[in-house]
Amino acid sequence: MHKVILDTDPGIDDAMAIAYALAHPAIELLALTTVFGNVSVDKATRNAQYILDVFGATQVDVAKGASEPVTQAPLPHSEFVHGDDGIGNCYPEAPAALNPAASHAKLATISAADYIIEQARANPGEITLIAVGPLTNLALALAKDPELPQLVKQLIVMGGAVDEPGNVTPLAEANFFNDPHAADQLLAEDWPMVVVGLDVTHRVMITDTHLGKLRDHAGATGDFLWRSSRFYIDFYTNKGAAKNATEPQCAMHDAAAVAYLVEPDAFSLEHGPARVIEDGVAAGQLAMDRRGYRYATDHWSHRATNNAACMGVDSDRVLATFIDTIIEHRLV
Ligand code: BDR
Ligand code: CA
Repeated sequence: MHKVILDTDPGIDDAMAIAYALAHPAIELLALTTVFGNVSVDKATRNAQYILDVFGATQVDVAKGASEPVTQAPLPHSEFVHGDDGIGNCYPEAPAALNPAASHAKLATISAADYIIEQARANPGEITLIAVGPLTNLALALAKDPELPQLVKQLIVMGGAVDEPGNVTPLAEANFFNDPHAADQLLAEDWPMVVVGLDVTHRVMITDTHLGKLRDHAGATGDFLWRSSRFYIDFYTNKGAAKNATEPQCAMHDAAAVAYLVEPDAFSLEHGPARVIEDGVAAGQLAMDRRGYRYATDHWSHRATNNAACMGVDSDRVLATFIDTIIEHRLV
């Protein structure tokens, strides 16, 4: 059983990741820790509680995290991708439902960073962190407790792109772009860290056929995934990466990070020390040295060597397991 803390900025594909983590029989989802990114941290936290309610989860904590990056000034949120409310304009308008106190999900009294440290210290070697938003909370936790990399079992990060072009600039992926300093700080450390970036998540495209199957066979969970994905699918199909696709579809980015935990052999990895460019025209770019070459100007040799990035994926298998797991094992 994997004890998981999911650090998230929900987010439509974040909701897919939450549904997957809740449904998978090998995952015990302890908490959602929230961060700015797709929306403000206030909306992300409210969405996290609401999504847990919709998916029927009553035992999962929510801890609110960072509202802005560790060093740079905050960038605009991505409402044009995820909707004004961050979940495809599916957040209910009724005032009672808007009250986060009505949520079953407990809001922790400590910050996301402190929650992560507390759980890692209480369960040494047992916690898997899956980070699917900007890496700010983890960088804050690491600064406060430098032993964190030795305390956690695994860190899986949805972010970055090694060979694939970026999705917010030609070079940068959104989560790394939103807090490049945090991403670079995490990649410096020796922890079992795997990056699930655009090199694979742009290959795992979930279509209306898949989402229709969830709507028709996965109860309230599938219904929400169908409704919330309308806005995101429209962005991908009319403005984004799936413009020329034969069927409406979108990347399931964050859910692919959960897929890596439960089906690592559906992915192929490459290793090497890695940096994230912190500013300038290439800000947010992931730069991994996969050759071990000795460069004259060297920003890589003193870095952790066990960073891994997913470079290949069996997307049919990942999608099939995702859909079957939610249909068979969802809570509601
Ligand atoms: C990542 O950025 C966010 O918009 C998504 O939720 C995902 O975590 C993809 O680049
Ligand atoms: Ca996300």
